[in-house]
Amino acid sequence: MLNSIKANHLQFESQKIGMMYFRVAIILFGAQLLMGLIAAIQFLYPSFLFELFDFSVARMVHINALVVWMLYAMIGSVYYMIPDETGREVIGIGIAKLAFWVLTLAVTIVVLVYIFVQVGPGKESTIWFINEGREYLEAPRWADIGIVVVVLIFYYNVFATYLKGQRTGIMTVMVANLFALAGLYLAGMFFTDNISMDQYWWWWVIHLWVEATWEVFVGTLAAYALIKIIGAKREIVEMWLWIEVLMLFGSGILGLGHHYFWIGTPEYWWEIGALFSALEPVPLVAMFVHVLYDWGKEQGAVHAEGGAHAINNGPAMAWIVTNAFGNFLGAGIWGFFHTLPQVNIYTHGTQFTSAHGHLSFFGAYATILIGMMYLVTQGAYGVKHMKATKLFKWAITLIVLGLMGMTVALTIAGYEQVLVERAELGATWNAFFTAQNLHWYVQAQGWRLAMGVVTFVGFVFLVLDLLTIGKVSKEAEV
Ligand code: HEM
Ligand code: HEM
Ligand SMILES: [Fe+2]
Repeated sequence: MLNSIKANHLQFESQKIGMMYFRVAIILFGAQLLMGLIAAIQFLYPSFLFELFDFSVARMVHINALVVWMLYAMIGSVYYMIPDETGREVIGIGIAKLAFWVLTLAVTIVVLVYIFVQVGPGKESTIWFINEGREYLEAPRWADIGIVVVVLIFYYNVFATYLKGQRTGIMTVMVANLFALAGLYLAGMFFTDNISMDQYWWWWVIHLWVEATWEVFVGTLAAYALIKIIGAKREIVEMWLWIEVLMLFGSGILGLGHHYFWIGTPEYWWEIGALFSALEPVPLVAMFVHVLYDWGKEQGAVHAEGGAHAINNGPAMAWIVTNAFGNFLGAGIWGFFHTLPQVNIYTHGTQFTSAHGHLSFFGAYATILIGMMYLVTQGAYGVKHMKATKLFKWAITLIVLGLMGMTVALTIAGYEQVLVERAELGATWNAFFTAQNLHWYVQAQGWRLAMGVVTFVGFVFLVLDLLTIGKVSKEAEV
C-alpha cells in the first residue's frame, strides 16, 4: 500500500518546480550544518583538518550555503504559491526549469572551487573566478552575473503571471518586495579599494535583506500559510501584512545605521542608527501577535461550532508558531541588546554577534521555510490533514533545543569577551587572545559544539520525516 502512494498530486508545473527548489534547499541546509560543525571543532582544536580544510573556508561555505539554501526555499515557496494565489500556471515553465538547472550547476561549481582552491593570491582574477571576499556573498563575479540572469527570469515569471492572473494583496506585496530584494543584490556586486565604501554598500544587501525585504517576504509566506493551514480570513491577514510592510520599511531602512557606527562613516549615523534600529523590534512584535492572534481566533471559532481539525497541517503550523517566537527573540531581543552604539562599542564583532546571527537567521527564516517544506509535502501527497509524527516531534525539539543551546553558549562567550577583552584589557590584540583562552570562553565553545551536534541530529530526523510523513499521513486517510 505504502509503495503505491507517491508525491504526484501537484496539478501545476509551477508547484513541481517549487519542489525541485526545496530538494536542493534541504541538501544545502545539511551541508551548511556539516560545515558549521567542522568550524566549531576547529574553534576548540585548531589542528583539526589542519592544512586540509581551512577554518575560513568552512566558515565561508557555512554562511554562504545558509544564504543560498534560504534563497532556494524562498524561490520554491513562490513557485509553489503562485498557482494558488493567481489561479493560473506560471507563464514560462520551460525557461523556469532551465534557470533552475543553470543555477544549481553554478552553485555546485562555486562550492567545489571554494573547497579545492582554499588559499592563493588576491588578484583581479580571484574576484572573477574564485571568490569575491564579501562575507555571506562570496560568489565569484561570473556566478554573480549568472545569479542576476536567473533571478531576472524568475522575476519575469512571477511578474508576468501576476499581471495575467488574479491579483491578491499577498501577491501585490510579494511582487513589489521581490523587486526590491533582487535589486539590492546589485549593491553587493561592485568592487572598490576603499574598505569603508565597500562595507557601506555591502550592508545594503545584508541588512536591507534580513531586516527589511526578507522580513516582508516571510510576512507574505505567513499570510499565505495561515490561510492554507487554519483557514484564516484573507482580509485580516492581508491587513496585517500591509501594516507590517509599513512598519518594517519604516524602521528597517534607516536602521541600517547600526552597521555604520565604526566603519568610517559620519558620526550622525550614531543617532540615526540608534533611534531607528531600536524601533525595529516593534514590527516583529506585530508579526508575533499576528500569528498568535489569527491562530487563537480560528481555534475559538472552530470550538464554538464544535468542529475538529482546526489545523490541517500540525507540523507546518508548529514551525510557523516557532517562527513567530524565533523572529521576535532572535532579531527583536538579541538584536536590540547590541543595537545602541553605547553597547555596540563593547559587543561589536564578539561572539555576541554570532549568538544573534544564529538565533535570528534560524528564528526568522529557517523555521518558516521548514514550515513551507511541510506545506509543500502535504500538497505533493494530497493529504487533507497532516498530523504530527514522532519523527517530527523529535526533529523540532532537537533543532530548537540545539539552536537555543548554541545561542546561550555564544552569548556567554560574548559576555566574557565584553568584560575581559574589551572592558578590562582595552580591546588590544593581546587582549583578544587572552580572552579566547580563558576557560569560560573555551567552555562556552564546548557547549556550542555539543549543541551543534544536537541540532544536527534533529536535522537528520527532519529529513527522515519529510521523506516519509506524506506517505504515512496519506495511508492513514485511505
Ligand atoms: C531576522 C532578522 C535579522 C537577522 C537574520 C540578523 C542577522 C545578523 C547577522 C548575521 C549579523 C552579523 C553580521 C556580520 O557578520 O558582521 C548581524 C549584526 C547585527 N545585527 Fe542583526 N539580524 C537581524 C535583525 C536585527 C535587528 C532587528 C536588530 C536590532 C534591533 C539587529 C541588530 C544588529 C546589530 C547591531 C548588528 C551588528 C553587530 C556587531 O556590531 O558586531 N539585527 N545581524
Ligand atoms: C550544527 C550547527 C551549527 C554549528 C556547529 C555552527 C557553527 C558556526 C561557527 C563555528 C561559525 C563561525 C563563527 C565565528 O566566526 O566566530 C558560525 C557562523 C555563523 N552561523 Fe553557524 N553553526 C550551526 C548552525 C547554524 C544555523 C542553523 C544557522 C542559521 C540558520 C547558522 C548561522 C550562522 C551565521 C549567520 C554565522 C555568522 C555569524 C557572524 O559572523 O556573526 N549556523 N556557525
Ligand atoms: Fe542590521
